Amino acid sequence: QLLSRPKTVYTGKKVLVTAGGTRERIDPVRFITNDSSGKMGYALATELVARGADVTLISAPTKLAAPTGTHVVPVTTTEELAEAVTTHFPKADILVMAAAVADFRPKTSVTQKIKKTSDNDEMTLSLVKTTDILKTAATLKRPGQLTVGFAAETQNLIANATKKLTSKALDLLIANDVSQPGVGFNGDTNQVTILSKNKAPVTTALVSKTAVAGIIVDELERLVDSKEG
Ligand code: CTP
Ligand code: CA
Repeated sequence: QLLSRPKTVYTGKKVLVTAGGTRERIDPVRFITNDSSGKMGYALATELVARGADVTLISAPTKLAAPTGTHVVPVTTTEELAEAVTTHFPKADILVMAAAVADFRPKTSVTQKIKKTSDNDEMTLSLVKTTDILKTAATLKRPGQLTVGFAAETQNLIANATKKLTSKALDLLIANDVSQPGVGFNGDTNQVTILSKNKAPVTTALVSKTAVAGIIVDELERLVDSKEG
């Protein structure tokens, strides 16, 4: 079956895809998370497998079934995701960071359920910043490795996304204006602007996440090509 597949630039390439929203525990019955469904990351993993890549999918919790042909590494917290990326990235040719990562986690972990009492009409939760996984990956990046990030923005899409392309040393950045209906988190559709260093941005129509995954993988293909010489 593998032999009958047409050869692509992705044939035999090791691609690490992260997906889903990380969870940070407040107490045994509560956690902080975000609106990520994992659909965009899973669609990318599916598309990359179809084009012959060897895909490891590091997945934060989702309701989705593992895409056929991927090696799934389940994680829950941002620190677990960071550790899994640090383990797998050195062996990978490409990292696609589609996971929606919690930026902050509770400062202290509580083993018992937090109770409401007669004297706590207000409560304050202290949070600390999590590891920026893509920034860590940037420090580990070897020549020839490609990194792809996402940017979820509600304003100044291109300006904010361009900053992330540079500060995270990315080869490709997928910018999402999540304030627009049908864009970004949770739904089955998306509209993205794909930024890269030496090429004009590419903006897709509002289409299915599967179609967006195809366009992203096409854009990435050019970079895989050029790096191959
Ligand atoms: N990301 C990461 N580690 C984090 C937070 C985000 O690797 N702790 C990655 C995401 O997976 C995504 C990219 O960084 O590919 C941008 O995520 P985003 O939330 O848009 O940007 P942040 O850098 O977290 O900045 P902000 O949320 O303040 O806009
Ligand atoms: Ca963030």
